Amino acid sequence: MKIDIELLKEFEKTLDTVHPERGKIPINILGYGEISLVFSIKGQNVAYKRIPIFDNESQVKRHVWAYKTYNELLEKIGLKLPDYDVAWFKDDMGKIQFYCIQEMIDVNSVGDKIIHHLSKEQVKLLVLLVLREMKKVWDFNKKSQTYEVALDGQISNFIVIDYNMNNPKIEKNTKLGYLDTSTPLFRINGNEAMEPELLLKSAPSFLRWLLKALFLQDTVDRYYDFRRVIIDLIANFYKEQLPEFIPTLIDLANTFLREEAADHELTPIEGQEIFDYYKSDANMWEIFQRVRKLDRFIHTKILRKNYPFYLPAEIQR
Ligand SMILES: Nc1ncnc2c1ncn2[C@@H]1O[C@H](COP(=O)(O)OP(=O)(O)OP(=O)(O)O)[C@@H](O)[C@H]1O
Ligand SMILES: [Mg+2]
Repeated sequence: MKIDIELLKEFEKTLDTVHPERGKIPINILGYGEISLVFSIKGQNVAYKRIPIFDNESQVKRHVWAYKTYNELLEKIGLKLPDYDVAWFKDDMGKIQFYCIQEMIDVNSVGDKIIHHLSKEQVKLLVLLVLREMKKVWDFNKKSQTYEVALDGQISNFIVIDYNMNNPKIEKNTKLGYLDTSTPLFRINGNEAMEPELLLKSAPSFLRWLLKALFLQDTVDRYYDFRRVIIDLIANFYKEQLPEFIPTLIDLANTFLREEAADHELTPIEGQEIFDYYKSDANMWEIFQRVRKLDRFIHTKILRKNYPFYLPAEIQR
């Protein structure tokens, strides 16, 4: 992909992380996760994922390698990814700025948008197609002697290829794409490819040791666990304010586990598990979000320093 690094440098110069749309370079926010800000620059067909977590070059080089390898592995496994690239540089203050870059996809074709426009039957079919994409990853893991690949299976990470928002429809042979490759979780001979502690870099430094002790290993491990990734996918329908879909999706997943994924020998999923998972996950991110707001306040109002992260407004959970 062709990337204009000078434009990104210019963007960083005038970026206000509290109101990212108000900088000198006009951007559209496409989305954001718990860590990254995803935006496009007006007039371009490119999605930039800004990930401000690196302290030194060796960290960033390892991450670039992990990111590229992760993308290659997923493509080899058979997932469809948008064109991708990566860019990083040192800004005027000498701070490393890092971007994962992708071809921009029509935001209306992203899973968490379209589930609100589909019938229950259609959502079921979409989730079945998502489960089949996931299964490719765990089939690969089962066979591979060297690699173990993780996936974040939330519905917001999948896109429907050739989606027509004026005639929303999912069919048996509808193709899905996968977006969320900026956290390259995979293991080579049991060793984590990326430095997992980077995941905590957006947390206030005074809390990192505590979060690490309480959550880090478990949060990383769950993306490697087929059953927990499925639970995460279904529990997400609480956050999407569609809890009425959950019982049907549990039945669907259990049929899938029994019929199509029998060789993975996973125990059937129960409604209570989904609910408990949703509660504890929502709590964890809510606490995380609150301490980050406090940290931003300390940085900007008391220490009068820059705060590097963009924090979304209240997220409905
Ligand atoms: N290539 C793209 N084109 C258009 N929109 C995108 C693209 N990539 C991501 N988005 C939007 O941004 C949202 C978040 O992106 P993504 O899932 O890659 O990262 P993330 O969830 O923020 O990751 P993390 O939580 O690890 O920071 C997506 O759900 C989607 O709405
Ligand atoms: Mg995501």
